[in-house]
Amino acid sequence: MLNQPITLTQYLIEERRRFPLASGSFNSVVLAVALACKALSRKVAYGVLAGLHGQAGSVNVQGESQYKLDVLANEQFLQGLQWGGNVRGMLSEEMQDPWLAKDADVAAGDYLLAFDPLDGSSNIDVNLSVGSIFSVLRAPEGGRSIRVEDFLQPGARQVAAGYALYGPSTMFVLTVGRGTHGFTLNPELGEFLLTHPDLRVPEESQEFAINASNSRFWEPPIRRYVEECLAGKNGVREKDFNMRWIASMVADAHRILTRGGVFMYPRDTKDPAQSGRLRLLYECNPIGLLIEQAGGRASSGEAPILEIAPSGPHQRIGFVFGSKQEVERIERYHRERVDEVEPDTPLFNRRGLFRSMA
Ligand code: F6P
Repeated sequence: MLNQPITLTQYLIEERRRFPLASGSFNSVVLAVALACKALSRKVAYGVLAGLHGQAGSVNVQGESQYKLDVLANEQFLQGLQWGGNVRGMLSEEMQDPWLAKDADVAAGDYLLAFDPLDGSSNIDVNLSVGSIFSVLRAPEGGRSIRVEDFLQPGARQVAAGYALYGPSTMFVLTVGRGTHGFTLNPELGEFLLTHPDLRVPEESQEFAINASNSRFWEPPIRRYVEECLAGKNGVREKDFNMRWIASMVADAHRILTRGGVFMYPRDTKDPAQSGRLRLLYECNPIGLLIEQAGGRASSGEAPILEIAPSGPHQRIGFVFGSKQEVERIERYHRERVDEVEPDTPLFNRRGLFRSMA
């Protein structure tokens, strides 16, 4: 008897058996995303030979230069998902306005999709890991057409979330609300196989990830946490820490899901017009759900990320996630700081400039 891991399709069918009334439309959404990711994995693997390295000469809604692969990845997602008729709206990092199904074509789609088609795209040209991140939300009942506000649901309402990592091997990591599971692409079969069932983030860890070039802009709780890590055995933590930074959040998240650690892209004072670097709806929420489903914790530093009510489709926010005890410690440092400094530091206190920015 062959002892072969099950495929993503088999996994989804088994999950669906628990919901006898389900139409299969949800599985179609996830499989369409997985197909788009397989296509992108091929393009990424061909590297410069695909003629897709370099910038596209355009900027996205965030004012960031778009790479050719950003643009292609966005189209791949849009095309793959529009065809099936199961999503009524799609929000992407690469588009100012969401794609909204016209009543006539996809009136019945039960879901909304938010995605970052190619996370970490500055790593493409240097041949480092990049990925795609997605979040599935329920569309409003009654088949009405979608408005932008329909995407503004807290992360706890996600039906599913996942990412594909285009690394030495391509992986698809998924939660449908019952644990977080990793599938590896078998390039011969063209199938994702369940190789990492029930990923668990260790509660404690000695590894952290942060872009330290921003240290002069950090707020005191983050500075305190990192300084204590750096002090190692001689400091209050009484143990040495290791540091890693890939600059593709999807790859940092994958390392943390596999062996623990903490990732921080906190709100800082670098650009007072922004309340963080990463985008809530298609970066933080999906990664947050995957991490929490694996027993880790995800936070803005002050509040659980999945409880935050979004204020706009491209909202940025501070993001800290990973091993539970480390994230709880960072949250505690934020609380302690508020207690300590609130009365006399108007720039940083609860009502101050840097706290109120959306
Ligand atoms: O768009 C987000 C992203 O590419 C993340 O994947 C990554 O963690 C971060 O930006 C890197 O940003 P920076 O270049 O500021 O360190």
